[in-house]
Amino acid sequence: MTSPLRIVIAASECAPFAKTGGLADVSAALGRALWRRGHDVRLFLPYYQKVDASGLETQAAGDAFHLDFPNRRVSLEILKAPLPNSENAAGEPLMVEFVNAPDLFDREDFYTDDEDEPVRWTAFCRAILETCQRTHWSPDILHANDWHTGLLPLLLREGYNWDDLFHGTRSLFSIHNLGYQGVFPAESLDAMGLGKIRGSFHQERLKEGVLNLLETGIIHSHWLSTVSRTYAQEIQTEEHGMGLEDLLKSRSDHLVGIVNGVDYGEWSPDVDPHIPAAFGPDDLLGKRICRDELLEEMGLAPNPTGPVIGIVSRMTSQKGFELLPDILPVFLQSEDVRLVVLGSGDKASERYFQWLRDALPNKVGVYFGYKNELSHRIEAGSDIFMMPSRYEPCGLNQMYSLRYGTVPLVRATGGLADTVERWNPETRTGTGFRFYEFSSQALHDTMKHALEVWKDKEAWAAMQKAGMERDFSWDAQVRAYEDLYSAVLAEF
Ligand code: ADP
Ligand code: GLC
Repeated sequence: MTSPLRIVIAASECAPFAKTGGLADVSAALGRALWRRGHDVRLFLPYYQKVDASGLETQAAGDAFHLDFPNRRVSLEILKAPLPNSENAAGEPLMVEFVNAPDLFDREDFYTDDEDEPVRWTAFCRAILETCQRTHWSPDILHANDWHTGLLPLLLREGYNWDDLFHGTRSLFSIHNLGYQGVFPAESLDAMGLGKIRGSFHQERLKEGVLNLLETGIIHSHWLSTVSRTYAQEIQTEEHGMGLEDLLKSRSDHLVGIVNGVDYGEWSPDVDPHIPAAFGPDDLLGKRICRDELLEEMGLAPNPTGPVIGIVSRMTSQKGFELLPDILPVFLQSEDVRLVVLGSGDKASERYFQWLRDALPNKVGVYFGYKNELSHRIEAGSDIFMMPSRYEPCGLNQMYSLRYGTVPLVRATGGLADTVERWNPETRTGTGFRFYEFSSQALHDTMKHALEVWKDKEAWAAMQKAGMERDFSWDAQVRAYEDLYSAVLAEF
């Protein structure tokens, strides 16, 4: 392996402490994997109200300090708690460092529409750099993730460059989702107290009245990555670039796609504590039990002759559920299948799934909200996992599904295209079903095709087994990050 590096991981989410989506799984798993490989990792997360309310035992690290903003002084301290299952060879866990600034993060939600939202994330980024200073710890790599930490590369280059501590530090900015850019009115800069580095923001954009924190990260970081190879290409096109395609194209020689991994310590049916029966590729009996119990838990009629279809998702336009209303009611009425949905988000999607459930109460089960254990039981108890995403930077559930012998049915975009192989009836190879055109018809045709294959029990078993044997573990992916960190350090 490369020689041990000092690596900061800065993220707004980290499982199990604070999670709304895949970023939480990824920051935890990457931190854990790097730590176990002997790197000196410091993983920073805000100390949210929900973390505090969870009863997590923390210890204070260092003295309290404060950050000054125009007309405002923010007091903070760093709290530490071990990341579960992260022990390295010396038996030491990775200690997550929580930035405890009650004035900013003791709020009901992780993300807010409050006026001081940009100040919250500026403070988080500055607290990270100042904690490095206060502990005299000089990072090699500053790995920022998504817009919340988009300021870090600029702060490193121009805000804190006076400090020798950071002279060898290089930044990597990972884009997990271009759909969230951290866009605020340009005047927000006044409250962020950035002094002379204001001149380094995209001046044209500011003249348009817009401050864009994701764009700021893309401009100023030494290197960029995103979470699959296909998405790295897609975001350089007008269709998927969300207005940043030209900027991303201009940085294409410093942009790579590294597909996310799966933490099989958390997501594998042979060790999963949340499912009623264990199973593996050579013995699927336990999956049958998981399926029966899932149907019972969701109040659905038992023993369908067709497959159980699962969905676990944030409900946003990204996820493509608008393709469903044109096809699902008739499909569900005419076939002996079941649909199990776990998710929350936009009200229109929730209303739709509620309506569907009310119309077909024996066939459709829904749970609105966030429920980790149920997400595991849906992975284990379903036969098909549906992700008709409009776009998908990586997607984790399709990889979890593969491990649980649950065949993914996906739109071939982003990471879904990179991780699900089309079932080929001639060669009888592949791990799932894919469609390309973003249309209800294309989805419908693929669902019909899946039902045909379902009837061929041998084909289905071959597909399940192939999926369960695919290896998306972080062991491989962490090496890709190590190589990237080394390349960044060698170049700059
Ligand atoms: P995204 O990050 O875009 O939401 P991913 O597929 O990368 O999509 O990751 C989603 C993660 O969030 C998965 O671990 C999934 O199980 C989890 N998840 C999404 N919605 C819920 C929910 N309502 N309850 C529990 N877990 C959820
Ligand atoms: C984002 C993306 C998702 C990806 C996750 C973790 O939220 O929507 O596709 O898997 O980040 O990288």
